[in-house]
Amino acid sequence: ASTTATSVSISGDISSQLHAGYSHPLSRSWQAERQLTKDMIIYPLFITDNPDEETPIPSLPNQYRRGVNRLVPFLTPLVRKGLRSVILFGVPLQPSAKDALGTAADDPAGPVIQAIRLLRSRFPQLYITTDVCLCEYTSHGHCGILREDGTLDNAQSVDRISDVALAYAVAGAHCVAPSDMNDGRVRAIKLKLIESGLAHRVLLMSYSAKFSGCLYGPFRDAAGSCPSFGDRRCYQLPPGGRGLARRAIQRDIHEGADIIMVKPASSYLDIIRDAKDLAEDMPVAAYQVSGEFAMIHAGAKAGVFDLKAMAFESTEGILRAGAGIVVTYFAPEFMDWL
Ligand code: PBG
Ligand code: ZN
Repeated sequence: ASTTATSVSISGDISSQLHAGYSHPLSRSWQAERQLTKDMIIYPLFITDNPDEETPIPSLPNQYRRGVNRLVPFLTPLVRKGLRSVILFGVPLQPSAKDALGTAADDPAGPVIQAIRLLRSRFPQLYITTDVCLCEYTSHGHCGILREDGTLDNAQSVDRISDVALAYAVAGAHCVAPSDMNDGRVRAIKLKLIESGLAHRVLLMSYSAKFSGCLYGPFRDAAGSCPSFGDRRCYQLPPGGRGLARRAIQRDIHEGADIIMVKPASSYLDIIRDAKDLAEDMPVAAYQVSGEFAMIHAGAKAGVFDLKAMAFESTEGILRAGAGIVVTYFAPEFMDWL
């Protein structure tokens, strides 16, 4: 009887011993399902219509609006260090560039299409994603075409946005990423890619679960895309809307998305996990947005934590939640840190 008692008490002790599993830096790294690598990182770039411009964005530390002439010198060292992918945002600054239909979005002489062509030819290994939206190009700053009463005309918006996506694909983008949140745009884009014979080589990454809120402020400064009236609450998801996010993700899977994105990232880790569960056979991306990036910088500046440590900790949390791709303004730093 006493032997049995001893073995029971030993097995009880054994189950309480966890430290050995992570007492060494290497064994600590084995505890994560995924390690952050350079391949997982997509870097957002803001491209203006003034070719020689290079202007810092005050609310987005270390980020600049650049004209096409500034892209190659800026990207050359980053690509050499291992940057694999960028996502392009057009920032038209000329006063004539904005109208009710966002006509400048797919202007062949506009900054995005120029940048796609340039980057494809100068960096053959770089994967070019383009954000697809109208808010940077519309006079009212909303993400689609409006009816007279100021509400979104979904059908017209989807038609226009899918044309813009197609124009970027034709210009050579590897990936088109609609961020507008109009209903049915994934299907419309996929159908146009199929009709044009591009569906086999152009990936569709949907901003499926994109929540409204105050974390996009620095981006709207950067892109000059603040709505001139109202807000985006009728098309971006309410922060508490987990069920809606799950439906949006399932909808986009069925409409032909190749990658599902969740945005913002750190306040929506449960949604990233939901996305990975619902889209288990697809890559899931998370966008650590401008407000999250600015907060981390502000915290570091205030002495709350070390910038690098927090950049890693926040990104590791995003990977643990289920993402395998991270859109992050820390991309240049990660090319040095990883
Ligand atoms: C455009 C778009 C936005 C972001 C990505 N695409 C802004 C918005 O929806 O207001 C946000 C990115 C960021 O904050 O870093 N629709
Ligand atoms: Zn938009």
